[in-house]
Amino acid sequence: MEALVARGHEVRVLDDLSTGRRENLASVLASGRVELIVAQVQDQERLRAAIEGCRTIYHLAASVGVGAVTQHPLECLKNNADGFQSLFHAIEAVGSQGGRSASGGPAAGGSGAFDRVVVFSSSEVYGKSTAPALREDDDLHLGPTHVPRWSYAAAKAFGEFLALTTHREQGLPVTIIRCFNTVGPRQLPTYGMVLPRFVAQARRGEPLTVYGDGAQTRCFSFVEDVVNGVLDLAAHPGADGQVFNIGSDEETSVLSLAERVIALTGSSSDIRFIPYSDVYGGDVADIQRRVPDLSRIRGLIGYAPRTRLDGILRATLETQIAADLPVGR
Ligand SMILES: NC(=O)c1ccc[n+]([C@@H]2O[C@H](COP(=O)([O-])OP(=O)(O)OC[C@H]3O[C@@H](n4cnc5c(N)ncnc54)[C@H](O)[C@@H]3O)[C@@H](O)[C@H]2O)c1
Repeated sequence: MEALVARGHEVRVLDDLSTGRRENLASVLASGRVELIVAQVQDQERLRAAIEGCRTIYHLAASVGVGAVTQHPLECLKNNADGFQSLFHAIEAVGSQGGRSASGGPAAGGSGAFDRVVVFSSSEVYGKSTAPALREDDDLHLGPTHVPRWSYAAAKAFGEFLALTTHREQGLPVTIIRCFNTVGPRQLPTYGMVLPRFVAQARRGEPLTVYGDGAQTRCFSFVEDVVNGVLDLAAHPGADGQVFNIGSDEETSVLSLAERVIALTGSSSDIRFIPYSDVYGGDVADIQRRVPDLSRIRGLIGYAPRTRLDGILRATLETQIAADLPVGR
């Protein structure tokens, strides 16, 4: 939001504040350039009113996190899938009322009403792929449907299909973003995200709980880098109808992340290994490696993340100290 305002935009935010917090918007709301509508994306009337007159839509609303998805699979699946359906219904309705077409008449499918619809997907759609670096055109390797974890990826893939088929059949300008472990200020440990959780545990002097053997690797990216990349893509004509990985390709194991958090905080915490089955139930296996291939986004907008892992760790710690954020498990 701050980045959009800094670039001179006026913004309407629709969020049901289920995991989001009003205070995160305090500074931008004070600018008078941001309007907050507290509503569910499934509420057609409120959603249509929210997107009416906007040139660009960023669809981020979702139930997020493996913890939430495995604990409340039905709620998360419905929230994410219904959210996508509702969004594309609203786009079609608003577009057919007021969109511009080449002939000046109303445009089908909202194709003329919006400059870009940016849809947030996830690296989770790559599923169990073992490719050394995941490319946007790779096959997706989801696990079986009796394992709730995969319902998050399936809902995100459904959203991607909705966006891309609407683009193909009705000319709606869309861009799909696949995020890889984005972290930064204001991210709470409450929803189980590994980095804020480790920092919170280290601050309390409690053991850092590593799921599995900790050899699994991830690439953490700083929210500011991701936001700038997303805004550049939203404004770039070459990103229309395309899918992009976004994140960092600086790979680290979860065990090494825990060790770095302990070193940074000077904590007396030790590390405790917990089997996945104890955390998520019997059916969950973690993904051993998840590294994005960033050549597509680099090639189009010269994307290069500026903040490396040490900076990300420091920022996460400073935020928790400054805000005295509540610490969850
Ligand atoms: N952070 C990551 O590492 C990551 C990784 C992959 C994908 N993503 C995707 O990026 C997007 C943003 O994720 P985030 O990490 O900022 O999570 P977040 O929880 O901070 O943001 C999601 C927001 O959506 C709102 N929301 C949820 N359901 C809603 C509904 N039905 N109607 C209206 N608002 C609703 C929440 O209140 C919250 O403010 C999500 O779509 C997520 O799937 C994030």
